[in-house]
Amino acid sequence: MTIETTPYVLTADIYADIKNVGPVGWVEMPDGLRAVMVTDYAAIKEIGTHPDVSRDAAAHWPDLRAGNVPADSLVVPWVTNAGPFSAYGAEHRRLKKLMTPAFTQRQVDKLEPMIHEIVAGALAEIAPGPHDGHQAEPMDLRAEFCFPVPIRTIGAVLGVDVDDEQDLFPVIRAGADALFDTNISREELGAAFVGLLGAIDELIARKRANPDGSLTSTLIQANEDGDTYTATEIAEVVRILIVAGYETTVNLLDQCIFLLLTHPQYVAAALAEELGSDAAETAWGAIIDEALRHSSPANVVPMRFPVKDIVIAGFEIPAGTPLLVSFAGAGRDAKVHEAPDVFDPTRTKKDHLGFGYGPHRCPGAAMAIAEAKIALPALFSRYRLTLVEDPAEIPANDGIITNGHARLLVTLEPND
Ligand code: HEM
Repeated sequence: MTIETTPYVLTADIYADIKNVGPVGWVEMPDGLRAVMVTDYAAIKEIGTHPDVSRDAAAHWPDLRAGNVPADSLVVPWVTNAGPFSAYGAEHRRLKKLMTPAFTQRQVDKLEPMIHEIVAGALAEIAPGPHDGHQAEPMDLRAEFCFPVPIRTIGAVLGVDVDDEQDLFPVIRAGADALFDTNISREELGAAFVGLLGAIDELIARKRANPDGSLTSTLIQANEDGDTYTATEIAEVVRILIVAGYETTVNLLDQCIFLLLTHPQYVAAALAEELGSDAAETAWGAIIDEALRHSSPANVVPMRFPVKDIVIAGFEIPAGTPLLVSFAGAGRDAKVHEAPDVFDPTRTKKDHLGFGYGPHRCPGAAMAIAEAKIALPALFSRYRLTLVEDPAEIPANDGIITNGHARLLVTLEPND
């Protein structure tokens, strides 16, 4: 089968787009670039493990090689970085090996006390001040809670002093925040990015002089242990870890909170640990997995390129075609899930591709889940939360890549 060539123009409504595109279809992105989008669960798994599908745009995207892709296209930073995102085959395996050992479940379990501390700090900061019987002022939980927890966690893992507001942490956070802020000027973005890179260089210099147990020190060791990794690669991996796990984890917290506030029947059940389809599934695990299926925090991570002509789900895809796989689409595939649009943490089958599939699968999945498993019960047991806006009217966050809300305005009442 050949793919219908008239492209569907992507909008801000990720789920309307997924339905309109169908399992495999040409789309036009907001910057005018065209790609084949795949929303079908089985097809995404096939692509994820296909030996002839590359993420290396420099080698396998003819339009980029021919200079036909504008430098300011939204996909360029995603497909031309020096980290594992845009590496293929043996080169990808070499780079990925640098990060996977740090985020195994065993390693993540050791981080739990630190994550508890970070969450407790963030909860204390959002505590409503004394008020005289009037409704507490609404606050944006996405900005004030969902954002700080992940950046402080990855900062602390990398050995940044996240409590020192005069040192590297604010510069790192400003740099990472700017990358996701579509309302700032190109100059502001450039300055924040330069700040981020400078802070990473400084962090590496400090850890080289005074090694400690941080992940940055472990990475430096990998550079010093032989000629397998260059100093530039180590800096790039530090940058990718800061950026890749940031807004994605923000959106996981955002989506879980939004779904619980719009399905309040599950809050009490989760707090009482009365959810979960079998003994192995905890209540909060059930909520988080169902949120990853229903409202995948990552929609598409640009892009992939067949290195030769391939056939996926019966569709012929020529070599060099840019592919966007929609992890959000996979979670709503009606061939896999009954009533896929319904958020139901009690469903037994919650299979999702929220962390991707195959060799590029997210190395930070266990850490992201640990953050959510600690942050959500702490938040909901401490406060009664009420959404201030009509949920249907809350705009989505910008862009087609991640899937969250522009804001989550709530009032907080302490639970007695
Ligand atoms: C809820 C939070 C997160 C979500 C939903 C998420 C999602 C994803 C997805 C879908 C991919 C696969 C991309 C693809 O195959 O196209 C990915 C890759 C990646 N993620 Fe995550 N991620 C999360 C948190 C994290 C964290 C906390 C870290 C770091 C500590 C991290 C680091 C990475 C890296 C480095 C890659 C690239 C892996 C590769 O290309 O081999 N992510 N993530």
